[in-house]
Amino acid sequence: MDINAYLESRTARIRQALERLVPPEDEPPQSLHKSMRYSLFAGGKRVRPILAIAAAEACGGDTSGLDDAACALELIHTYSLIHDDLPALDNDDLRRGRPTNHKVFGEAMAILAGDGLLTLSFQVLAQCRQIDAARRVRLIGEVAAAAGTVNGMIGGQVFDIEGEGQPATTQLLDAIHRAKTGALLCASVRLGAIWAGAGEEQLETLSRYGSHIGLAFQIVDDILDVTQTPEQLGKTPGKDARQEKITFPAVYGLDNSKAMAQRQLTQAHSALAGFGPEADPLRAIADMIVHREG
Ligand code: IPE
Ligand code: IPE
Ligand code: MG
Ligand code: MG
Ligand code: MG
Repeated sequence: MDINAYLESRTARIRQALERLVPPEDEPPQSLHKSMRYSLFAGGKRVRPILAIAAAEACGGDTSGLDDAACALELIHTYSLIHDDLPALDNDDLRRGRPTNHKVFGEAMAILAGDGLLTLSFQVLAQCRQIDAARRVRLIGEVAAAAGTVNGMIGGQVFDIEGEGQPATTQLLDAIHRAKTGALLCASVRLGAIWAGAGEEQLETLSRYGSHIGLAFQIVDDILDVTQTPEQLGKTPGKDARQEKITFPAVYGLDNSKAMAQRQLTQAHSALAGFGPEADPLRAIADMIVHREG
């Protein structure tokens, strides 16, 4: 399959839906909506919503109504990036090839833009009329848990921040990465599968895929922080080492980290062994996650 054409078409779908779902810049408070849109439409790979669509496609059926629910994932993800870049967290100047949100709009507005995106995400899920109420409630619970404090994104961010300059254990490293990044990526796959009406066994299989690509994603993010330029990344490289973050390259070295990402990729493919060509997009996205350069 032509993965570039696939990504392009799904990215366009997501962009259109986001345009519709996020209040326009002239809606009061204008400063806030401008700030939310600045980060949301700065680019970004849209991996999470595309994973949701690809997972639903793997389960069969029409996925055209899934876009709003998929966008909820991108809203949460973008909020997490804005807050991750704040001076109190990673203190970054560059994101998605642009000055970070707080550099342009100030810290107060960046915090509120993150809050706004997070809140909107659940509003969008709650208003997702294409599925019945029981399934909608299930999706809301899944996304909330993945973005939450226990083995979820916020919890992972706490361990990431508290881990700076601390001795790393391999268990802590694994827990940070699975929580801060893996959980939302795995939930993206699950959201698509649940939306499409997957049975429990199919959901379990796709979750295994999701957990492997979720871990691989953050291993590769750590590697790229060491190896890439600001132009390739759209963010400032070398920050993890300067901030003494607990990362895969710091703990295992670059070559081992690459091998570990590759192993996660192999396991992600194995998880999909029972699927036919309907899961080719999921396979290609896994390859892209591990072989990307930015
Ligand atoms: C970066 O995520 C932050 C992590 C969770 C590693 P992405 O690499 O998906 O960032 P965008 O959305 O493409 O900008
Ligand atoms: C952030 O991890 C994960 C989030 C939940 C946002 P990083 O701090 O490594 O992400 P980047 O490298 O700044 O994108
Ligand atoms: Mg961080
Ligand atoms: Mg960061
Ligand atoms: Mg990083």
